[in-house]
Amino acid sequence: MKRFRRLRQNENIRNFVCENKIDVNDLIYPLFVIEGVNIKSPIDSMPNIYQYSIDRIDEELQKIAKAKIPAILIFGIPEYKDEVGSGAYDDNGITQKAIRFIKEKYPELLIIADVCLCEYTSHGHCGLVRNCEILNDETLPLLSKTAVSLAKAGADIIAPSDMMDGRVCAIRSALDDNGFINIPIMSYSAKFASGYYGPFRDAAGSAPHFGDRKSYQMDPANGREAIREIEDDLNEGADMIIIKPALAYMDILSKARECFGIPCIAYNVSGEYAMVKAAAQNGWIDEKRIVLENMISLKRAGADRIITYHALDVAGWLNA
Ligand code: PBG
Ligand code: ZN
Repeated sequence: MKRFRRLRQNENIRNFVCENKIDVNDLIYPLFVIEGVNIKSPIDSMPNIYQYSIDRIDEELQKIAKAKIPAILIFGIPEYKDEVGSGAYDDNGITQKAIRFIKEKYPELLIIADVCLCEYTSHGHCGLVRNCEILNDETLPLLSKTAVSLAKAGADIIAPSDMMDGRVCAIRSALDDNGFINIPIMSYSAKFASGYYGPFRDAAGSAPHFGDRKSYQMDPANGREAIREIEDDLNEGADMIIIKPALAYMDILSKARECFGIPCIAYNVSGEYAMVKAAAQNGWIDEKRIVLENMISLKRAGADRIITYHALDVAGWLNA
């Protein structure tokens, strides 16, 4: 007789036929570093996530090292912003300084550097602006300069998140020309114009001051276009790709996994984190159970690695 339940009857047999696993090595933890001294500043919409000044960041790095999380994704919050986002490609910018500090103390920790201008521009857009238009080609040299500057500071992986067309090609040749032929590009290839980034923009102070990001980030309605975006980034030289957000876009993740052989990374973004934390704080859901279920679901859908604000918690549960 057909009985699916034969393989579910006890934990040993369930473990034996389990198809997917989440491991500490799957996790990438985002980190916010802010200019200034003695700062550990909470982010209201992201419980347990903080902005750290460099002199305070070791507190967080020790936890990451102890948890054996292999990689961080670093975001800098500068003191000054201008029209052209010059803090992004300043060799003494906040992100560059933080990377040098971390690399020296924790050489084995992989540092993934987000490349974008929105944290550094006074208007909060990811590229140069003229007459309320976000300029594509004029932005590319600045993104390239940013990538080179971050690589010089010690970043192990460059992750462009701006969604300008042609940035992977521009960044690849700039890295190569400057002797960084071995620095991989992890491109935010399928990045949607999403409401789920709200809490991040509080954390990074990067909300656009006018309009929105719909003229460069993708329309949430478009799945086929996401595959073409990924294809294009791979042709331009991307070594790995990011799908973002993660949970509402698992169809894209799953298709990308089927279509391409490269590492696929899911970005479980700030709004996804905030929703889980809010419900958990209200006692409406079991946080550990829900978070681990989200993680295994991303693995099942095809994620090789997961960028998540839950990383320290997940590592704690897995290591326990
Ligand atoms: C910068 C960037 C954003 C996120 C990562 N890099 C914000 C945005 O595009 O507005 C969002 C991450 C998150 O929500 O956790 N472009
Ligand atoms: Zn941006």
